[in-house]
Amino acid sequence: TKGGYPHYMLKEIMEQPDSIFNSMRGRLLYEEGISKLGGLQGYEDRIVRSQRIIISACGTSWHAGLVGEYMLEEYAGIPVEVEYASEFRYRHPIIRPEDTVIFISQSGETADTLASLKEAKKKGALCLGVCNVVGSSIARESNAGVYIHAGPEIGVASTKAFTSQLVVLSLITLLLARKKNLSLIEGQNIIREMQSLPEKVKKILESNDQIEKIADEYMSCRNFLYLGRGYNFPVALEGALKLKEISYIHAEGYPAAEMKHGPIALIDENMPVVFIATKDAVYDKVISNIEEVKARKGRILAIVNEDDDYIEKLVDHVIRVPKTINMLQPILSVIPLQLLAYHVAVKRGLNVDQPRNLAKSVTVE
Ligand code: F6R
Repeated sequence: TKGGYPHYMLKEIMEQPDSIFNSMRGRLLYEEGISKLGGLQGYEDRIVRSQRIIISACGTSWHAGLVGEYMLEEYAGIPVEVEYASEFRYRHPIIRPEDTVIFISQSGETADTLASLKEAKKKGALCLGVCNVVGSSIARESNAGVYIHAGPEIGVASTKAFTSQLVVLSLITLLLARKKNLSLIEGQNIIREMQSLPEKVKKILESNDQIEKIADEYMSCRNFLYLGRGYNFPVALEGALKLKEISYIHAEGYPAAEMKHGPIALIDENMPVVFIATKDAVYDKVISNIEEVKARKGRILAIVNEDDDYIEKLVDHVIRVPKTINMLQPILSVIPLQLLAYHVAVKRGLNVDQPRNLAKSVTVE
């Protein structure tokens, strides 16, 4: 059942070339430079015309939603808001019939996400589910939706579901963008980049031994800071969450530029900082943030692109990931962070598949 791996979590991390492939299988139409999502059929025009998209989710799925916000606003040009389902359901959110609300949930059973769906439906918004478990409550209650097809996720820490959620959000983005302003050529470019993801993920997984060694150096730290900007900001949050939940080490994710508004006070030679610093629109800005940490003697681990020969001179450790377009980079840059959390937890002798106090699906609020 664990496919020869010691834990489901490692098996599920290693499965990602396949799970990512399965999430887009049969859904990319290269000739037309667009995606085809059977579960949205009949609703496409209503989604394209929506005044606003709201994304409601919890935990890791909420992090996927944050990446979705950046994608949809950049390519589809529709204003997006991302909400914690638990807050959304109890405040007085303005939900209008012209809104589309996307509910992201691996299990499809998360109580808060389900309750926020019922509320949005009552207010007449179009409700879309992005779920993994087929026939789950959120999948059944929503008006339409897209399954992520990641396959069963058993490890309590969500890994392959996250990358598949990002794939599906990219597919939705491509669909809406092409129905709006995106050119055929640009659509085809996104498709080619998506199709090359499984091979790129395989390459990252080959760094597993290197990451395990790096974990040795960091396993005894008591606090971590994860920093990223742009599309990699939600990756910083997700990397920190993975470490917290399975290794019980305190970790915080921040948008890198927020560091100087408080967290920088924490930095000294005992504070490891994980930077997600791939070559995107904000690369130079991230370099200055790295220099600021360096000047205060912080220990730095950086996730960088393969051709980056600059950052390794500044930092203590680098892990390399292949380059892709900015929108898809989180699918690659999160993988070393999943492996890092896994190895740190194993080295600390912890039960990575069933961390204390956590349940795979949170069906109570
Ligand atoms: C983190 C994790 C949780 C879930 C959250 C939402 O690794 O597993 O944060 O992401 O409980 O669960 P779903 O996606 O099933 O609604």
